[in-house]
Amino acid sequence: VKRIRTHHLRSMKERGERWTMLTSYDMYTAQIFDEAGIEVLLVGDSASNNVLGNETSLPVTVDELIPLTRAVARSARRALVLADLPFGSYQASEEQAYLTAARFMKEAGAHGVKLEGGAEMAATIRKLTDGGIPVCAHIGFTPQSEHTLGGYRVQGRGDAAERVLRDAHAVAEAGAFAVVMEMVPGDVAAQVTKELAIPTVGIGAGAETDAQVLVWQDAFGLRSGRMPRFVKQYVDVRSVLLEGARAYAHDVRAGTFPGPEHTF
Ligand code: KIV
Ligand code: NA
Repeated sequence: VKRIRTHHLRSMKERGERWTMLTSYDMYTAQIFDEAGIEVLLVGDSASNNVLGNETSLPVTVDELIPLTRAVARSARRALVLADLPFGSYQASEEQAYLTAARFMKEAGAHGVKLEGGAEMAATIRKLTDGGIPVCAHIGFTPQSEHTLGGYRVQGRGDAAERVLRDAHAVAEAGAFAVVMEMVPGDVAAQVTKELAIPTVGIGAGAETDAQVLVWQDAFGLRSGRMPRFVKQYVDVRSVLLEGARAYAHDVRAGTFPGPEHTF
């Protein structure tokens, strides 16, 4: 199998073929999603609130994300493995961003990094790409800035559409190979997608982007509770695991597991 590279994703856009990104934070999901043909595996800072038990993405650290990224990079044969730069690990300076991103490439085997921000991150994106690190930008609603954005809300409605367009063009000009747009009106995301040569990746950004991304625990039903409107749940992994754990506990209590066939 041939490794997916950033130019393949660009060619797919040029051919009008949509591609897919999913989060992954461990060996088995990386193997499974890779086998399913997902082009990009994102080791998101969403590991913070989907793996590590935090309430938001803010607390996760570089040292916590590197081993998860390494597991995914070791396990995916075809997918491009993208590492999310966590909050506070790249915003202080271009130098801080480069040193952090280089750790994900060297220590974890990532093939690129993702960072949040638009025009204000352009110089950082240029620094990283000039230094050999492919960058995927993330604009619209950016969860690491929830406290300055005033909570989880759609970005780019009405006059604010200009801001999204400006950010999209800024990150593309700075050398980003793709741009994630989160919680942006569908018509705005469609316009960005038409205007940019690089692929756009939507999450809550309508059907007209070049690619889509979802957090796997949302899409496949591991997480329970209220889901954002942009999530579609494809399977219900949680109920399968719940059934398995209950059946196992029942068998052990009843003395029916282990059976003779499991015994030496
Ligand atoms: O961390 C994450 O999972 C993400 C995607 C939702 C784009 O940034
Ligand atoms: Na993220």
